Amino acid sequence: MTRPMIVMLLEIILSTASLASAQAASGALSYVDPLIGSTNGGNVFAGATLPYGLAKAVADVDGQNTGGFATDGSNVTGFSSVHDSGTGGNPSLGNFPLFPQVCPGDELDNCDFRIGDRKRHYVNGSVQARPGHFGVELETGIGAEMTVAKRTALYRFYFPKDGQGGNGTYKRNTNATAPESHPLILLDLTDLWQSRQNASIVVDPITGRMTGNGTFLPSFGAGTYMLHFCVDFFGAEIFDTGVWVNNRAGTEPKKLFVTRGFNLFYLEAGGFVRFKSLTNDTVTARMGMSFISADQACRSAEKEVPDPLQDFGRLVREAETAWEDKLNSVSIATGGVSDNLQKSFWSGLYRTMVSPQNYTGENPNWDSGRPYFDSYYCIWDSFRTQHPLLTIIDPEAQTQLVNSLLDIYKYEGWLPDCHMSMCKGWTQGGSNADVVLVDSYVKNLTGVDWQLALEAIVNDAENEPLEWSFEGRGGLTSWKNLNYIPYLDFDPVGFGTNSRSISRTLEYSYNDFCLATLAQGLGRDDLYAKYIKRSTNWRNLWRADQKSAIHGTDTGFTGFFQPKYLNQTWGLQDPIACSALAGFCSLTSNPSETFEASIWQYQFIVPQSISSIISLMGGDASFISRLDFFHTSGLADISNEPVFLTVYLYHWPGRPGLSTKRIHTYVPAGFNTTNGGLPGNDDSGAMGSFLFFSMIGLFPVAGQNVYLISPPFFQEVNITSKVTGKTATIKNINFDASYEKMYVQRATVNGKPWTKSWIGHEFFTEGWVLELELGEKESDWGSKVEDRPPSWMGAMDMN
Ligand SMILES: *[C@@H]1O[C@H](CO)[C@@H](O)[C@H](O)[C@H]1NC(C)=O
Ligand SMILES: *[C@@H]1O[C@H](CO)[C@@H](O)[C@H](O)[C@H]1NC(C)=O
Ligand SMILES: *[C@@H]1O[C@H](CO)[C@@H](O)[C@H](O)[C@H]1NC(C)=O
Ligand SMILES: *[C@@H]1O[C@H](CO)[C@@H](O)[C@H](O)[C@H]1NC(C)=O
Ligand SMILES: *[C@@H]1O[C@H](CO)[C@@H](O)[C@H](O)[C@H]1NC(C)=O
Ligand SMILES: *[C@@H]1O[C@H](CO)[C@@H](O)[C@H](O)[C@H]1NC(C)=O
Ligand SMILES: *[C@@H]1O[C@H](CO)[C@@H](O)[C@H](O)[C@H]1NC(C)=O
Ligand SMILES: *[C@@H]1O[C@H](CO)[C@@H](O)[C@H](O)[C@H]1NC(C)=O
Ligand SMILES: *[C@@H]1O[C@H](CO)[C@@H](O)[C@H](O)[C@H]1NC(C)=O
Ligand SMILES: *[C@@H]1O[C@H](CO)[C@@H](O)[C@H](O)[C@H]1NC(C)=O
Ligand SMILES: *[C@@H]1O[C@H](CO)[C@@H](O)[C@H](O)[C@H]1NC(C)=O
Ligand SMILES: *[C@@H]1O[C@H](CO)[C@@H](O)[C@H](O)[C@H]1NC(C)=O
Repeated sequence: MTRPMIVMLLEIILSTASLASAQAASGALSYVDPLIGSTNGGNVFAGATLPYGLAKAVADVDGQNTGGFATDGSNVTGFSSVHDSGTGGNPSLGNFPLFPQVCPGDELDNCDFRIGDRKRHYVNGSVQARPGHFGVELETGIGAEMTVAKRTALYRFYFPKDGQGGNGTYKRNTNATAPESHPLILLDLTDLWQSRQNASIVVDPITGRMTGNGTFLPSFGAGTYMLHFCVDFFGAEIFDTGVWVNNRAGTEPKKLFVTRGFNLFYLEAGGFVRFKSLTNDTVTARMGMSFISADQACRSAEKEVPDPLQDFGRLVREAETAWEDKLNSVSIATGGVSDNLQKSFWSGLYRTMVSPQNYTGENPNWDSGRPYFDSYYCIWDSFRTQHPLLTIIDPEAQTQLVNSLLDIYKYEGWLPDCHMSMCKGWTQGGSNADVVLVDSYVKNLTGVDWQLALEAIVNDAENEPLEWSFEGRGGLTSWKNLNYIPYLDFDPVGFGTNSRSISRTLEYSYNDFCLATLAQGLGRDDLYAKYIKRSTNWRNLWRADQKSAIHGTDTGFTGFFQPKYLNQTWGLQDPIACSALAGFCSLTSNPSETFEASIWQYQFIVPQSISSIISLMGGDASFISRLDFFHTSGLADISNEPVFLTVYLYHWPGRPGLSTKRIHTYVPAGFNTTNGGLPGNDDSGAMGSFLFFSMIGLFPVAGQNVYLISPPFFQEVNITSKVTGKTATIKNINFDASYEKMYVQRATVNGKPWTKSWIGHEFFTEGWVLELELGEKESDWGSKVEDRPPSWMGAMDMN
């Protein structure tokens, strides 16, 4: 029953407009699988969206529902129109879900209104996901297909005919004596997290239009946000309308206001419409969303989807074209590698542009006249690879993202580390928007007021906010006086989660290094001198005699970061604490002196001065054995972003071949095309962009004009700059798809020998050609001291 039903559904859509021309489906797009990372904690948004789209339509489930849907076989609770992607923690958005059903006996009160009653498993194997389109069938036999415009989701709910379905079956009015039943679609005034504070709905009994709004909590932040909706129905006549509360519904009244009751009791409530005389057994629902007003939601919907019964195919095609435009600056010659590696690659690139969301014209708090983006979720995750990738692939978007960050600084007083749904999000480590800005600066991103950027970053470095849990930095008094963040700091100036003294010291040091870089570029030598000195503060937490044991066995390495009290004596945190071997540490669960990773991980997070930590650790050989131990002992956590650069740190001791070898241990074993094929939360495309950079063979050191060279996973990769129109090529010579020959023997750039193991962003903007000659054995390419990636050498002299 399942198969024919889905086929029928598709036929309807195909007949409406010729969908997905062969040409559109050929190229890169056909390799994008939005279901990669849809279970096993990837938390990706698997539904229909435009690049950076506000409208994101998908089936929501009661299983792993952080991004709405999951392929974990759980139950569908509704179909909703806004989401975030790849985030951890609480489920995000998913407001005002619709849910289709047929009330047994055509009795309204026989319908299931509450989530716990109405939820239904989806039919395994019925899920269809590709860019711009999502479809699924419920076990009731009711099918749903969806696509989107910028701020509008368009759904087609298919109700199986009499005798064909399970509980979703309705009787058609085939003759005068047959009783007709009336499919119902409800709207629930809730979100995925059930965070609603209050909400309103009005149902128009003539047209069936439902409009309203609700106030909700951001999923990882402070305050509240208000969202508005406007849904219209097409392809059927209205039978009746009304509102529902708990498990009862009525046709009067036509509006409702719900709030939180006794003990903040969560009332389930919303509106409904029942239909008659369905065309093709289908009801089409057009849902406009807005952060401004219901009127604006209706206007967007009417403008973007003027002819809902005819527009479905057009919207899918437009979404495909929009995605193709985003992917088409990259092309690859595969050299015979598997389809799966291509799928991982293109899907990773795709996910990098699902979020943040373009909320231009939807910001209720200010209108600066410039595009506004939100869902920087969170920059601690995205600064390392996502923003650097956007700078290459979509510099126009990156300019708008940077300017939105600067607008947030102007209007809210601080750059965010995390921001979603118009609200301030919780800060995880340093003020890493600083790195995003400076990374864009060193890559000559245009259209940004860099003086304003300098002002915003200096503000992070100098002024402590009252609430540094969601903006700026904490402990600045100690930072300035003691040159580290103390363990159990006394900080009466501002308030935040007073933990993470080691990881904050390391990240603030790097943030200050980036600030020094910008100051120098802008000719502010005074500021450069000040902050380059502060960028060495990490050294103050290095305890040269600290050892580390695992289950009582000494690892053999001496010298680790340790917490230090205000009185300058050492505290103690086991270097393996907060690793996969010892339990997780976050802001709220087991807060520690390192955030979400161990001292073993954080010892490598000094990207400004890797050669200094190599010296502290006893030189190249001893650094390499420490790094190997980290990656092979269970201490490295490939599921979380701090690990990213550590895969490539072998470049600094002059062994780029070991970086290459290391990345091949993680791809595809940890990143593959199964639905559970991401090792952890995709974090708004952080994992996707890590994979992309790894596979093109150039890995960014965020905040510096440095890409580390390692052979691409494909024979050849071209990337065309949208700024200059020039095409950069990375080409393997002697490529072999089994990766036995994976070590660079010799390299050339534009035909001339290139001995350095790294290259700058000019490679992309000037359209250079990098050729890597491969062999089976590691060579001495990139080993000379002068050929290693840059490292700020003053670090050992200051302090
Ligand atoms: C559907 O798939 C899920 C997850 O794989 C599984 O738990 C469930 O039993 C499957 N249901 C059916 C009806 O096969
Ligand atoms: C789906 O709903 C059923 C019935 O309430 C429940 O037993 C099951 O745990 C749900 N599945 C998931 C993954 O939550
Ligand atoms: C169908 O409806 C009956 C009666 O309401 C209910 O017991 C049963 O669980 C439903 N089955 C499905 C697949 O929804
Ligand atoms: C009308 O429909 C009913 C129920 O489906 C059926 O029993 C009856 O025979 C039909 N009458 C005619 C005239 O087709
Ligand atoms: C809804 O809740 C928000 C947040 O608690 C509150 O600010 C607002 O006044 C409430 N709205 C109404 C209409 O009560
Ligand atoms: C929320 O929706 C209700 C019902 O449409 C409306 O009366 C009210 O003005 C709306 N509130 C806001 C702030 O838009
Ligand atoms: C219903 O289906 C027919 C034939 O498949 C098609 O021509 C018509 O456009 C469809 N109507 C709607 C409203 O989708
Ligand atoms: C890359 O660009 C060059 C120069 O335009 C071209 O010759 C080559 O075929 C392209 N390779 C790929 C994989 O697109
Ligand atoms: C965001 O939306 C605005 C308004 O539609 C548009 O001007 C801007 O170019 C969009 N940004 C991107 C990167 O698409
Ligand atoms: C940025 O612009 C400067 C001045 O034109 C130039 O020297 C430098 O190479 C450019 N950097 C990059 C990464 O393009
Ligand atoms: C420093 O402070 C810590 C924590 O309060 C305390 O345990 C330790 O004894 C102090 N050391 C000295 C030398 O005062
Ligand atoms: C695919 O990736 C997941 C997540 O990292 C991993 O658990 C799984 O073992 C991998 N599967 C294969 C076949 O490599």
